[in-house]
Amino acid sequence: MLDEIQILKEKALKALESVDSIDLLEQFRLEFLVKKGKIQSLFDKMKDAAKEEKPLIGKELNILRRSVEERFNELRERLSHQAETVPTLDLTLPGRRDFRGTYHPVLQVMERMVNIFKELGFTVAEGPDIEDGYHNFDALNFPPDHPARDMQDTFFIESDEQELVLRTHTSPVQIRVMQNQKPPIRCIMPGRVYRNEAINARSLAEFHQIEGLYIDKKVSFAELKGTLIKFSQKMYGENSKFRFRPSFFPFTEPSAELDISCFLCGGEGCRICKNTGWLEIAGCGMVHPNVLKAGGIDPEIYTGYAFGFGIERVAMLRTGIDDIRLFYENDVRVLRQL
Ligand code: DAH
Repeated sequence: MLDEIQILKEKALKALESVDSIDLLEQFRLEFLVKKGKIQSLFDKMKDAAKEEKPLIGKELNILRRSVEERFNELRERLSHQAETVPTLDLTLPGRRDFRGTYHPVLQVMERMVNIFKELGFTVAEGPDIEDGYHNFDALNFPPDHPARDMQDTFFIESDEQELVLRTHTSPVQIRVMQNQKPPIRCIMPGRVYRNEAINARSLAEFHQIEGLYIDKKVSFAELKGTLIKFSQKMYGENSKFRFRPSFFPFTEPSAELDISCFLCGGEGCRICKNTGWLEIAGCGMVHPNVLKAGGIDPEIYTGYAFGFGIERVAMLRTGIDDIRLFYENDVRVLRQL
């Protein structure tokens, strides 16, 4: 009987070696460890053994049971732990989307505006962000001591030789274009501009504009109106309403501002349009003769119109975002929605 015990022990331990799942472990238990299992049946046989052999047989049987159970418990511990950590595959879960980089919403609006003006026959030019006072102010007909020069709060750059500023608008690029091209000129000038302003929901110290300039013989205010309305309809839809309002800029005469009927309230009056029913989207006018002269163009022969759009303003109108700072905080949760 001692041999039998030895053989069963080897057999059981060997069988455990190849157990690698909870199911196989259960099969093993049913074969060896239950009341009617192989180990218990050896215990049952003990009663037939000779009396003097019984103590030894009993001892060996206990060793057999203990060693098999020990090994069994270890294995159960390991396998159940494994079962917990292996992730279950849920085929009904939606797949994880890959987010690709996109253009920033302000750049998207800028590109759209540029493309519409290109369709209307405009070319594109750019100028420097750091300007001299001459291009930013004097050539644009701001007299040196005229309060108009304070109309925009300017970042001045320290320089011994000349007055340097971060450009406060894209209008100085008009002068550079006139100095470099002969009429007819039909050009837009997108770019970044800087103003020393308190930052709040409506204004930032850095933003973008698109400047426009058209110079030829006999250019009229009617053409300015036609072009801006055509552009705005393409940008905002055929059904938007527009109006021109008289205004003042040193570099244009006469000057006007272009308003669009408020997209939010449809003209009824609301928070966004400050209850006027209208939103201002551009400044414009006929190029002042002094500005043509500064650009090297004879005002007796040529006339022209100019305009300037704020891009963030347009982006706000298109996206419905009413706090300009959201564009620059670069929170991807916001940007991904746009
Ligand atoms: N430079 C003006 C500004 O920054 C905008 C502007 C108004 C541009 C009238 C123009 C113009 O070209 O004709 O507020």
